[in-house]
Amino acid sequence: MRPVVFAANWKMNHGPTAAHGFMRTFLEQYDRHMDRTVLFFPPALAFAAAREPAVERPDIGFGVQNIHWADHGAFTGELAAPMARDAGADYVLVGHSERRHIFGETDQQCADKCAAAERAGLTPLLCVGETLDQRERGETESVVTRQLKAGLSALTQCDITTSIIAYEPVWAIGTGRNATPDDAAQIHAVLRNALADLISDRAANVSILYGGSVTPTNVRDLLAAPNIDGVLVGGASLDPTKWLSICTA
Ligand code: PGA
Repeated sequence: MRPVVFAANWKMNHGPTAAHGFMRTFLEQYDRHMDRTVLFFPPALAFAAAREPAVERPDIGFGVQNIHWADHGAFTGELAAPMARDAGADYVLVGHSERRHIFGETDQQCADKCAAAERAGLTPLLCVGETLDQRERGETESVVTRQLKAGLSALTQCDITTSIIAYEPVWAIGTGRNATPDDAAQIHAVLRNALADLISDRAANVSILYGGSVTPTNVRDLLAAPNIDGVLVGGASLDPTKWLSICTA
């Protein structure tokens, strides 16, 4: 059984003070659930403050939103995977659509970042998803399959088995317009098949999350759909009450 994953991507929101306050409020109300994992991706500057109230909670995991593909060096403003690991991160987002579309991140860079994550002992959470134009041109399945296979191309089969995938249609992110559970399930099945090409029946072990305008109202229906093993949430993860109702769905 894959545990259900609830992942909060705070993006460029919540500095150290707000992050610490959020976690205290959330943890007071969120009891440990054995069947689910809750992950937080705070901004790097708020990472330590967010994590500190949760160090005694093995059911809560933390990751960074981005890493560089090099382990160290002259890359002003960047974060290296070994540093993130040293700071207590277990996960890293790779290939989020904002990284791909605002910062021009390529499939090759995603592959290099996944490899850097694994070298440092971080689990990559690779995000894939089509733009509205690509969807309207009928390219969704080919785009997400290409992003998945390219992003994982530098990993061993063993590393692929323990990685996490998120399907996040670009047109659904931050728009209030989520994919329907049926539409999302169809693409999750495509991703599961693409994983099976890489790691055969171990594809069943990989968690595939859905992201894009997940709310307390739509989360149950999304999680009930086949092959949707969790959610990656932006906007609705910024408020402790909304996030609590998502994580207890
Ligand atoms: P959203 O963002 O929940 O605000 O749509 C999701 C994401 O970007 O991971």
